[in-house]
Amino acid sequence: MRLFPISMCRAGMKLGKHIYNEQGMVLLAEGVELTQPLLDRLDRHGINYLYIQDSLTDDIVHVELISEENKNKLLREIRSSFRKLANDPGRRTLASYHHFGKTFRLHMDSLIEDLSRHGDAMIMLSDIQIKDNYLYQHSLNVCMYATMLGMSHGYGKDELMTLGLGALLHDIGKTQIPDEILCKPTQLSDSEFTEMQNHTVYGYRILKEEPNIPLLSAHCAFQHHERMNGSGYPRGIKGDEIHPYAKWIAMVDSYDALTTHRVYRPALLPHEALEVIMGGANTLYDPDMVNLFRDKVAIYPLGVTVSLCTGEIGVVVDLNASMPQRPVIRIIENQRREPLKVPYEVDLSKQLSIMITSINPT
Ligand SMILES: [Fe+2]
Repeated sequence: MRLFPISMCRAGMKLGKHIYNEQGMVLLAEGVELTQPLLDRLDRHGINYLYIQDSLTDDIVHVELISEENKNKLLREIRSSFRKLANDPGRRTLASYHHFGKTFRLHMDSLIEDLSRHGDAMIMLSDIQIKDNYLYQHSLNVCMYATMLGMSHGYGKDELMTLGLGALLHDIGKTQIPDEILCKPTQLSDSEFTEMQNHTVYGYRILKEEPNIPLLSAHCAFQHHERMNGSGYPRGIKGDEIHPYAKWIAMVDSYDALTTHRVYRPALLPHEALEVIMGGANTLYDPDMVNLFRDKVAIYPLGVTVSLCTGEIGVVVDLNASMPQRPVIRIIENQRREPLKVPYEVDLSKQLSIMITSINPT
């Protein structure tokens, strides 16, 4: 199974993994032959990568960190709670008719359980193959990233629950922002920008009223746009004034936004987005958190095509947890870009002189 950016997928290729729709139903089944209209439609839906069947790499094992069922359940819950709130602007609390905190806690329990089974797993951009509204999907991604990092950092169950809920619901205040502002493809006016920034305050107000959500999770919504140097909003607090949970969320929130295709710019590749985050260490993000993130994120996900400094082309077939930047590569083309009759593997954690020079070479 290979992982290709959608721009490199061609008609005739076969899908290597199911794609699900909003309801958690299979939208496109594994094995479906792609056509150009289908590829155009997926592109328009903002799908960045596709798993493609490939006989040279069909032995790659892709372990799901969270079961498809749990992901779908959680997305459904996010969707229904967020929609209820969006249909009730000005109220800014669900407390009187929908105790959503309890349900989210149950879902977080399953998510923490799923993730804890994969202690040394790395964060892969491609783990989520469900297409949904950006806000819902982004909430789930940020929650997965933050919980995994929290686990690596050594947080216990209760801490993970608070951090995870904060991450899952960090943008819940966006349900109170009018669609004209939220979805505006052009630059926001000053007053629109101020209203957009208010999603942090609205989120805090919603969550602090909810009895089953820890107050600290509400503060995550309040503080997730604050930055280390005080350049963030809404209060411009800095350094230690920002709660560590909000700092984790700030970092993975930025990373997920960078690696997602938006109306105003294409998605960055994982290594490009990681560079942006690393560039913000100290000034925007906590440097220790950035370091842990660098070590945990699989910037070369399984199945991705890379070129090496030797001129050869290969596919990432295994990851080295202790050296995430140096995976195992199966060489499939020689220096002249001719396919090899017998592919062979190079473990970059052992062959330290060999470098990856580019990802998705054309
Ligand atoms: Fe936000």
